Amino acid sequence: MTTPQTPAQHSVAVRPSEGHHTKTPVIAFLGTGRMGGPMAANLARGGFELRVWNRTTSRTADLAQHGAFIARSPAEAVEGAGIVISMMADGPATERAATGPDGFLARFPGLIWVQMATVGASWSARLAVMAARQGVTFVDAPVSGSQGPAQEGQLVILASGPDRVQGVLAPVFGALGRATLWLGPAGDGTKAKLVLNSWLVNLVEATAETLSFAGHLGLDPSSIVELLRSTPLGSPYAVQKATTMLAGNFTPAFALKHALKDAELAVQAAHSSGTRLALTEALLPRWRQTALLHADNDLSAVYITA
Ligand SMILES: NC(=O)c1ccc[n+]([C@@H]2O[C@H](COP(=O)([O-])OP(=O)(O)OC[C@H]3O[C@@H](n4cnc5c(N)ncnc54)[C@H](OP(=O)(O)O)[C@@H]3O)[C@@H](O)[C@H]2O)c1
Repeated sequence: MTTPQTPAQHSVAVRPSEGHHTKTPVIAFLGTGRMGGPMAANLARGGFELRVWNRTTSRTADLAQHGAFIARSPAEAVEGAGIVISMMADGPATERAATGPDGFLARFPGLIWVQMATVGASWSARLAVMAARQGVTFVDAPVSGSQGPAQEGQLVILASGPDRVQGVLAPVFGALGRATLWLGPAGDGTKAKLVLNSWLVNLVEATAETLSFAGHLGLDPSSIVELLRSTPLGSPYAVQKATTMLAGNFTPAFALKHALKDAELAVQAAHSSGTRLALTEALLPRWRQTALLHADNDLSAVYITA
């Protein structure tokens, strides 16, 4: 039987905090897109020493101004770090950063790998196995909240993994979000994220269809938005998306391509667990069609084809 380690017993590359007796972990951050960029910036603002890699280097310019070291490869970013956070688009991109040319995974046993992108249940399990083979502790911790909460450090972190790393990760997650839920063994965070995003895509689909339905009946759809806003029927998220749909403002906070990926991952996870998501399956054909032209727009662009 193994004895659970306390957070203090876990060995993590650290540097002394200026003016404090405590030490802060050196963090490598991989993937500085719409979510990863502001998350990394919050870590830099929080006083963590940061080593950053992104496939497109120009997307790291802000972080260099925050004092982050900009690496040329995932392996270079992870050099000397105790924790690596990945926030890339999907499972294949994440695996490539881990085990592709210049991947970090085989080189740094003892590392803590916090995987925060939405990669789906199968990919999370696969990455966890790859990490275990290399003596790397895998933490599966996707986030709820989009670009605004990422910028404001107000994400909700759906964490899962071994208890022994909760202490060392507490200040890291504290800089990124307003709450951390530890849900169980690695993989449970991703499962919770898929459940939430199945809810989210159905809410957006229902919102788009509702506005379109109102228009076809000859009603002013904005009057329906007001009804949703002023009754318990409308969630703040649905009202916000309804408002941007009617304004024709599809500036991405959560790109349709990623929402579609999550809907597909949720349907796959449901199949694997012996059930079906009839509503989520029903929206897929039209969302795929919409994504042919609007993949990089916000997911509220599904209103265009509703
Ligand atoms: N936006 C949201 O509201 C939201 C909320 C919660 C979770 N998420 C999830 O968080 C993750 C990131 O989302 P995001 O909105 O930040 O997406 P994004 O702006 O599209 O950024 C994607 C990131 O992945 C990198 N990437 C994509 N393909 C790659 C590849 N083949 N190899 C290496 N790097 C690659 C991109 O690098 P380049 O800069 O080189 O393209 C970029 O750093 C996704 O899994 C998404 O589902 C998003």
